[in-house]
Amino acid sequence: MKPWMLLPAHWAHDLSSIGLPLASLIYGRKTPHWKSFDWKGLHFANPMGIAGGVDKNAEHLREWWSLGCGFVEIGTVTPRPQNPNPGKIMDRHIKTQAMWNKMGFPSHGAEEVFYNLASYGPHFRTPIFVNIGKNRHTPNEVAVSDYVSVIDQLRPFADAFVVNISSPNTKGLRDLQNKDSLTNLLGPILDRVSHFEPTPVLVKLSPDMGDEALSETVLHCQSLGIDGFVLTNTTLSRPEGCPFPAEGGMSGAPLKNLSRRALEVAVQSLGKKREGLLLVSVGGIMSPEDVFERLQMGADLVQIYSALVFHGPDFFHEVARRYNDGR
Ligand SMILES: Cc1cc2nc3c(=O)[nH]c(=O)nc-3n(C[C@H](O)[C@H](O)[C@H](O)COP(=O)(O)O)c2cc1C
Repeated sequence: MKPWMLLPAHWAHDLSSIGLPLASLIYGRKTPHWKSFDWKGLHFANPMGIAGGVDKNAEHLREWWSLGCGFVEIGTVTPRPQNPNPGKIMDRHIKTQAMWNKMGFPSHGAEEVFYNLASYGPHFRTPIFVNIGKNRHTPNEVAVSDYVSVIDQLRPFADAFVVNISSPNTKGLRDLQNKDSLTNLLGPILDRVSHFEPTPVLVKLSPDMGDEALSETVLHCQSLGIDGFVLTNTTLSRPEGCPFPAEGGMSGAPLKNLSRRALEVAVQSLGKKREGLLLVSVGGIMSPEDVFERLQMGADLVQIYSALVFHGPDFFHEVARRYNDGR
C-alpha cells in the first residue's frame, strides 16, 4: 500500500507539490532512452509522458524530467484564471484502481503559466505539449477566441498544442466534437498557428462516442489538417457496482478497454492517412505491459495519470528498466 493512499484523495493531491520534489530526489535520474524517435523536429528520448491535468500550471517540469518523462503535457490551461467546480472534485477506488474527478479546468490562467514556463528556459529537457481549454462561462459559439488566446500567449514555449474538447466536467464542452463545431473551431486554430513558425495541433477526444462517430471525427479532423490525436479523456460510463456519482469523469483501470478500442479505431480508420500524424494513447495504462501493448497497437506516445497515483512516481523509470532489460 502506497502511503498517500491512506489520505483522502484531495489531500494526497494537494500534498503532491511537496511529495514530488521529494520523489524526484529519491527516484530522479537522467532521462531514460528507450524507443526514442523524432517527429516534426521534436526529439522524444522515450515515448512516455504525463497526461493533461497532472501539472495544470507547469509548476513541476524539473521533477517530471528527472522522474523519466520523455515529454510533458501541461494544462488544461484556460485564458483567464478560474477555480475548480464547487463541492467534491476528486476521488479514487483502490480495489478497482479507478479515479474520478469533476474538477472543471481549475487553472491559474495563461499569463501565470507563461511565466512559469519562462522560468525553465532557455532549454527544455523534453518536448512540451500545452493542453488548452476554454473558461467555463465562455459560450461554445465564441469558444474559439479562448483557444486562440491561449495559443497566442503560450506559443513561445509550446512544442505542440492539445485542443481539449472532451472533458466531461465543463458543461457543453463535448458538443465541440460535432462535425460543424470542429470545422468552426479547428479552422481558425490551424490558421492561427500557421501564421508563425507552425506548431503542431493535436485534438483530445472522448472515449464515449462509439466507434462510428469516433472514426468520422478522426477522419474529419485529419481532413482539416490536424497533426494528431490524444485518445482518450475520462469516461462518463461506469462499470457495474462503481461507487462514483454519475456526473464527472472516470479514469484508471476501468477505462482501459474503451481507450484501447479508441486507439484501434483511429489506426484502422486512418489507414495510410495516418502517415505523419501523431497518435498518443492515454487511459487505463496501469502497468509496463499496458505501455508496451499500446505502443505495439500503433501509439507513437503514451501518457499516464492514474498509474502515478496507484503505482507511484517511479513508474517512468520502472518502464524504462523493463524495456531495456527485455532487449
Ligand atoms: C484528477 C484528474 C484531472 C484531470 N484533468 C485533466 C485536464 O485538465 N485536462 C485533460 O485533458 N485531461 C484531464 N484529465 C484526464 C487525463 O489526462 C487522462 O485522459 C485520463 O485520466 C485517463 O488516463 P488514466 O487512466 O491514466 O488516468 C484528468 C484526469 C484526472 C484523474
